[in-house]
Order: sequence, then C-alpha cells, then structure tokens
Amino acid sequence: MDPRREGVYLDYSATTPVAPQVLHAMQPYFSQTFGNAASLHTYGRDAAAALDEAHSVVGCALGARANEIVFTGCGTESDNLALRGVAFEARQRGKGNHILTTPVEHHAVEGTLQQLHELFDFDVELLPVDGCGRVDPDDVRRGIRSDTILVSVMLANNEVGTLQPVKEIGLVCHEHGVPFHSDAVQCPAYLPINVDELNVDLMALSSHKFYGPKGAGVLYLRDGTPFIPTLTGGGHERGRRPGTVNVAGAVATAEAIKYISAERYGQAARLRLLRDKLIAGITANVPDVRVSGHPSDRLPHHASFVFKGVDGETLLMALDVEGIAVSTGSACTSGDPEPSPVLVAMGIPRQWSLGGLRISLGYHTTEEEIDYVIDTLPRCVEQVRKASADF
Ligand SMILES: Cc1ncc(COP(=O)(O)O)c(C=O)c1O
Repeated sequence: MDPRREGVYLDYSATTPVAPQVLHAMQPYFSQTFGNAASLHTYGRDAAAALDEAHSVVGCALGARANEIVFTGCGTESDNLALRGVAFEARQRGKGNHILTTPVEHHAVEGTLQQLHELFDFDVELLPVDGCGRVDPDDVRRGIRSDTILVSVMLANNEVGTLQPVKEIGLVCHEHGVPFHSDAVQCPAYLPINVDELNVDLMALSSHKFYGPKGAGVLYLRDGTPFIPTLTGGGHERGRRPGTVNVAGAVATAEAIKYISAERYGQAARLRLLRDKLIAGITANVPDVRVSGHPSDRLPHHASFVFKGVDGETLLMALDVEGIAVSTGSACTSGDPEPSPVLVAMGIPRQWSLGGLRISLGYHTTEEEIDYVIDTLPRCVEQVRKASADF
C-alpha cells in the first residue's frame, strides 16, 4: 500500500463514509418505497411503516421511547430545534430568561444561543472551563438561578475530544427542574449513549458522523420536556419537526445505529490503542508540541495537538500534499489567522493556539496509516516552521 497515493483519511470527526449495509438499506426508499409517509394510501403507509420502525430502532439504541425520537436534517438542525424550542416555550409562559452553556460548544449551539441573546434578549451565561475544556458540575450548581430555563453542555468536544461530566451535570439540572440539552454529535460511533444514564432531556445526533448519510439527524426529546416547535407547517414527527420526512435518511440512520452498536466496543478499544500510538509518536518526534484537551477523558478515536509557532491551516495543507486529511480549528479568514475560540477559552496562548490540529481516526483506519503519519508529520511541521521563519 502506498498511503501517499491512496490517501489517508483521518478526519472522521468531520464526516464518515456511509457503511455498505446502510447504503443498501436506504436505497429502496428512493425509488421503490418512495411514498410520502404522511399519505394515507398504500404507498404512504409502506413508507410510514418503515419510518415507525426507524423511530423504534433509534429509540431502543438510545434507551429512549420511539415517540421521543424526532428525525431532522442534521445535527445543526437538532441543536437549533432543541434550544429555540425550550427557550420560546419558556418565553411564551413567562418562565424565565437565563440559559447556562459553555464557551466550547459547536457553532450549532453557540450561534443559536447568540441569536437568542441578540434578538430575543435571553441572558446567556458561559460557564468557566479548565485547561482541558471541562466544565465543573459544581459551577453548574452555583450557576443555576430561579429564572434558569435551560442548560446546554456538549457530551464531547469536536475539536479537542474532551468528554464533559454530562451525567453529573444532568443530575444537577434535574435536582433544580431545569431542562438539560447535550450535543452528542461526536459520540455514538465510539461511546455508548443511553439518555437515562446521561440524564439528558434533549440531545442532538447526526447520521453522517456515524457511518450514515449526510442530510439526516436526530433530536432526542424526552417526554414532558417543555418545548414548542420552531419550524411551522404540518404535523410531521408529531408536529415537532414539520416537513415531509426523509424516510430514506431515517431508515439509514436506524441501520447505521445498528451497525455502530455492534461495532462500537471493539472499534473503540482498537482505535484507542492506535490513537495512543499516534500521540506517543508525535510527541516524541516533534519539538514544541502539546496534546490539547483532556489526556484520558477524551473520545477514543480522537487526537488533537497544538504546535508552537505553526499556522494550523498551513500545516493542514502540507499534510494534504502528503495524502493525509486532517483538520484544524484555526481559521484564516482575511489573511490574518484567527485562533480557535475553543483553544482560547481553554487559556492556550496565541503562539500555540494558532497551530491546532485534529487527527480523528475511524473504523477503517489501519496501523500502517498511523505509522505513515508518525513518519510524515514531524517533517511537515519542520517544513512549515522553516518556511515561516524564512518569510
Ligand atoms: C459537536 C458538533 N455538533 C454539531 C455538529 C453539526 O452537525 P451537522 O454537520 O450534522 O450539522 C457538528 C459537526 O461537526 C459537531 O461536531
């Protein structure tokens, strides 16, 4: 195998390839069983039966009831519906105005809460995080007020892989009767997810992060959670997400969740070993590098680094030339590189935070690929550092 020629994909946190059995399961719903699941005739009823089954399979895999599963278009939409749905219900009932969250959330949460603040005057408060990006559940306890209507803390961070103490935070929220939302988009392929064990009331998932297709997401919405739909239209998904349902996407999501439920345990153990080998190889062979995020309480397939004095995007492109696909949290929008807000919130100084790199492994990652990265990356870092010193 020539990894450079064939390409080494190590960006599974960005997206995953659709598993063959998932593709096979969804295909009939484009052309054979193509009916609108809301139609009353046979075509519609066949599609509705497949949709019912998909609700049951996904619910069962998450320890939830079928009617608590809402199919959406993506993880971003699930987060949007969850946060606005709870906030607007509270506004409608005059219940309160205060929302607690973290400074390390994905844009899908961060942007929605920012809009709720700017346009609707919700009081959005950011909890402190430590140097690994973790929230302390005691800070949530101290932060909850009589007018708190929602807490949102992600299960695992997409950029640095850190796991949040979601179980404990959920417990605090429930003691105070506050709905708890968690963005779990990065997790299900690598961590078991049970909504009762995690104490979540609302949770976002995205099919394309667990070997399903793009354009399909899940919102878990616990029975009895105060919520109003913020998309308006028909009564699809029990009125919680109006719009003709993507039956093929729902069937695919159910098939993908079956697939990962069978693979997860073995893959997580295998990937943890490969990931640890990668971290050991990089930290031993590159000067001025640190692992970002929590050293042990992190997603098993996820490695992230900061390289001092390196521009993350330049390094990403140098690796791409070598056939290695990874990602960075920094963004160069107008010629002026911007450090990742997540790394800034974790207190990482600018000369390090501009050089963030995420290497996320997946079910198809091989040891040969990891060895190739350990061999290639130190050379790329040296090359990028030399080029910026010459510049
Ligand atoms: C933590 C997290 N939340 C939400 C999303 C958005 O998911 P989607 O791409 O399905 O909109 C992502 C995507 O990277 C993510 O990592």
